[in-house]
Amino acid sequence: MTSSQKHTVIYDTDPGVDDAMALYFAMAHPDIDVVGITTTFGNVSVEQATTNALYLTALAGRTIPVTRGVATPWFKDAEAPPAHIHGADGLGNLGTRKLVVQTIDPRSSAQFIVDMARARPGEITLVAVGPLGNLSLALALEPTLPTLLREVVIMGGTVIEPGNVSPVAEANIWNDPHAADRVFTAGWKLTMVGLDVTHRVVVLLSLFEKIARRQQHPATDALCHAVEFYARFYSGLYKHLASTPGCFAHDLLAFIYLAKPELFTLDTKAVRVATDGLAQGQTIVNRRDFINYPQVGWEKAKPRTQVCMEVDASACVQLFENTMMGNWLPPS
Ligand code: BDR
Ligand code: CA
Repeated sequence: MTSSQKHTVIYDTDPGVDDAMALYFAMAHPDIDVVGITTTFGNVSVEQATTNALYLTALAGRTIPVTRGVATPWFKDAEAPPAHIHGADGLGNLGTRKLVVQTIDPRSSAQFIVDMARARPGEITLVAVGPLGNLSLALALEPTLPTLLREVVIMGGTVIEPGNVSPVAEANIWNDPHAADRVFTAGWKLTMVGLDVTHRVVVLLSLFEKIARRQQHPATDALCHAVEFYARFYSGLYKHLASTPGCFAHDLLAFIYLAKPELFTLDTKAVRVATDGLAQGQTIVNRRDFINYPQVGWEKAKPRTQVCMEVDASACVQLFENTMMGNWLPPS
């Protein structure tokens, strides 16, 4: 891939353990160039997410602009962050943190997205792996944003696979369903990487230990520590992870899709989000779009989303391993 074909990415994130593994994969992959990190509430508060984004980039020897984004959902009440999954600090309760000197970009995350899209029309890919408030706000600031961005890839939602925070809802969509519905109906080139594929791809703790042994670096040590905490939650919940600790590749898979879309099977359909009631946060996919449903909201002209339905799991894990074993970290 030439430098002009590289994916120039703004990473919208709530780090978060799987957000951290996704960030390091993106940094390690030669075809991905992360030019900004926009934070949001979700796995942790937006303040902690911003601290973690600055910390993870500094630890890996990078300087990438980091902006602070939305702190709460658009309409619904905020919920306490899931400290039992990601740790109170979002990174598995890291012991001592190195002092980092990076400073935050003073713009809001939404303003940063708009400024970058206007400055580089058609070039930027947005990879969003948290609740979608920053994207929703950016759309309000710049209604032509869908024509200014190259594409948007989100980790969130589910079609057939059961939800992970309710029987039908995935966490990122649940956390801000109104913002998510705005994103699904905005009309950009949009790909949804949801639980239908992320629950098929397990990354074992032993792989992170192998990567940390190979790299001998504070960044991969911190990642390994965080994954150990995260894997404990998954191993306690899912029988197939009980004896071999590991976790789902949620946010990581959004970048793996970007790097190798041929590993996924897509279905291109209209997607809407249930914003209230028992189904709140459900991503509803119109899988029979040859039927002219009469209800408002399912008009034929509604924008379509590329929904990832199947994935080559072992090829994804192999790509992750090969990429992370390369020389992407400076000497510590
Ligand atoms: C998603 O929710 C968050 O906890 C993870 O970081 C991921 O983005 C998985 O449902
Ligand atoms: Ca996330």
